Amino acid sequence: MKVLANDGISKSGIEALEAGGFEVLTTTVAQEQLANYINDNQIAVLLVRSATKVRKDLIDSCPSLKIIGRGGVGMDNIDVDYAREKGIHVINTPAASSQSVAELVFAHLFGGARFLHDSNRNMPLDGDTQFKSLKKNYANGTELRGKTLGIIGFGRIGREVAKIALGIGMKVIASDKFVGKADIKVEFYNGQYINVEIETEPMKEVLKHSDFVTLHVPAQDDYVIGKNHFEIMKDGVGIINAARGGVIDEVALIEALESGKVAFAGLDTFEEEPKPAIKVLMDRRISLTPHIGAATNEAQDRIGTELASQIISLLKVKDK
Ligand SMILES: NC(=O)c1ccc[n+]([C@@H]2O[C@H](COP(=O)([O-])OP(=O)(O)OC[C@H]3O[C@@H](n4cnc5c(N)ncnc54)[C@H](O)[C@@H]3O)[C@@H](O)[C@H]2O)c1
Repeated sequence: MKVLANDGISKSGIEALEAGGFEVLTTTVAQEQLANYINDNQIAVLLVRSATKVRKDLIDSCPSLKIIGRGGVGMDNIDVDYAREKGIHVINTPAASSQSVAELVFAHLFGGARFLHDSNRNMPLDGDTQFKSLKKNYANGTELRGKTLGIIGFGRIGREVAKIALGIGMKVIASDKFVGKADIKVEFYNGQYINVEIETEPMKEVLKHSDFVTLHVPAQDDYVIGKNHFEIMKDGVGIINAARGGVIDEVALIEALESGKVAFAGLDTFEEEPKPAIKVLMDRRISLTPHIGAATNEAQDRIGTELASQIISLLKVKDK
């Protein structure tokens, strides 16, 4: 049986599929030629990330499809219900990148607390002539240990963030619309671990008591953090959004940065992607990454091998 990984797949994923008896094609076929390619090659499994669209018309014109797989979380690019109505399995790998996103949150947090985002902008320009004044500018850093991290959205990624925070000695408080409490297992390299139970609190309480706030909720119709929410927060708070653009009101964020209410922000996701607002890009208090939360080699490997094992168990191919 043939698998078309139209938006790419890790080497480990290809190897696992081949070991399961599948032939893996990694050609990137243009959207308008996809139906023909799938039919000509009798593709049984179509794997995509976010680029390839799998809409009703494609599903209707490709009767050989048995599985549509999305490497990653969001499935906005697939007509999931329609495919399932037609008897096609639709699978994804929701947990494969949680740890990668959580680590990026800490890259922004550690960097923000010590002004690395700004220092990295200014050292190349003035490091050789203004060393002493730059040193003074970045002198009032803060440590994360002992501080309170507020996690909004205590699902897969929120809990991975909690593990790292507990590991470095932060106090963790969290809020979630649906999760009441969670057991966070912090594992060490030698097999030892500790369990910490965290009960969620109303969002207002979390915002009021956090030194740093990080968001891990899905996209929603309204902002989760708007002008009123910034007002509740501690002065000098740091805030991270590696969830989805539109979860934070960016205009209110810039105002809060300008007033000093928010000391720094870390953004991996933006209201306007792929063309974030210039005001956001140019603000020296914002640490910026171009939506790379899930983009680690380890996450790509997990995505590939998790998809492969789901495909193998669904189609149970035994012979090569
Ligand atoms: N930056 C990246 O590259 C990247 C990568 C993967 C996922 N993400 C994003 O991260 C977010 C979280 O992903 P996840 O896998 O942890 O999802 P998840 O479904 O496991 O967890 C989300 C949690 O948010 C809670 N929630 C929903 N609305 C809420 C609200 N208004 N207030 C408080 N809690 C609310 C839910 O109850 C759930 O527990 C998603 O938006 C996802 O798209 C970003």
